Amino acid sequence: MKYNFDEVIDRRGTHSVKWEAGELLKDFGLTDRFDEDTISLFVADMDFPVPEPVLAALHARVDRKMFGYSTYDTSPDYIQAIQGWFRRRHDWNINAEAIVYSPGTVEAINVLIRTFSQPGDGIIIQRPVYAPFTSAIEGNNRRVVNNALINNDGYYTIDFADLEAKAQDPNTTMFILCSPHNPVGRVWTPEELIKMAEICLANDVVLVADEIHGDLIRRGQTHYPLCTLVDDDRLIACTAINKTFNMAGLHCSNIVVNNKEMREAFKKELGWKTPTPFAITALIAAYNEGEEWLEQVNDYIDGNIAFLEQFLKERMPQVKFRIPEGTYIGWLDFSGYGLTDVEIHDRIYNKGNVVLEDGTMFGPEGAGYQRICLPSPRSLIAAAMERIAAQFP
Ligand SMILES: Cc1ncc(COP(=O)(O)O)c(C=O)c1O
Repeated sequence: MKYNFDEVIDRRGTHSVKWEAGELLKDFGLTDRFDEDTISLFVADMDFPVPEPVLAALHARVDRKMFGYSTYDTSPDYIQAIQGWFRRRHDWNINAEAIVYSPGTVEAINVLIRTFSQPGDGIIIQRPVYAPFTSAIEGNNRRVVNNALINNDGYYTIDFADLEAKAQDPNTTMFILCSPHNPVGRVWTPEELIKMAEICLANDVVLVADEIHGDLIRRGQTHYPLCTLVDDDRLIACTAINKTFNMAGLHCSNIVVNNKEMREAFKKELGWKTPTPFAITALIAAYNEGEEWLEQVNDYIDGNIAFLEQFLKERMPQVKFRIPEGTYIGWLDFSGYGLTDVEIHDRIYNKGNVVLEDGTMFGPEGAGYQRICLPSPRSLIAAAMERIAAQFP
């Protein structure tokens, strides 16, 4: 079927953090202003309905009228749906027993940190990067070891010499890789991925690849799951339906831990967790029948990105923007205006009444940047950009 992603659907009244968490966002220091008129493009979820087959499956599940405890690993349909998706879409054959359910990717990363490192250990991340990596490390009393990305005029690459030096430190025990990378939009090449894995494996650094943006790839790009490139069972990968199908509220991530001992240790720290009946039903329908929707959503996001690029060129040429290779995130460089971060924030959030995320939330390397999430009806992106442009005459 043909989906209509132009339709603007009011999400207020659905407990949406994106559209209703005004007070919370104020407490977080994300914005001082949040009201009925706010356009909110800060959080990475979509303003699009999920695939029709998922809705049909959920309706049918509700009609069964009971929502008791569930199982997933002893019911082959859940595991087979995951295996089928990654085989078809990414040429990745995942062993059934390697799949461990977690109620969220961030939760899994926290548990992985507690499983495979000790308090005080160094954990590598590549800033500017998704902020909860930092909170997971610091919240578990580990140390952030920053292998900062190199910014080549908006195209980010890896400082391999620095990565190797940091991995060689015996106090460094883990590396949390964002692949594709939020917020800079890189889809790492096989050469880059293999090199990162080799450095970690040679130095006994546990490599966790957060690959949950891996289905949201811009046309012409290929995302390579790390495990398809490097055959070593010590590598760990995080997968999820959350980003791919706009189902983050269902809390359903699946972590691939191939090494048996590592998997047992992870499961012990995680505790016995099972997905809700809704997550199970939605995952099976999405992975088995959601491909058509995903193709169309990726096309639509490509259109939004092209719109944004053109808008900036015509109306805000001082903003530097590079089309992301993956993710639905725009990483906008406002430094051309010669304003402080506080002034940029004030114009966009307080005066324009648009909520994005300040680049500094991703580390000091994000100074001068703003992150915008683009999986929304184009009219909403256009309205937000009009408001922002009006503040930068
Ligand atoms: C790289 C990355 N990892 C994890 C998450 C959150 O995942 P979850 O909702 O499964 O915890 C996000 C959400 O934006 C993300 O961008």
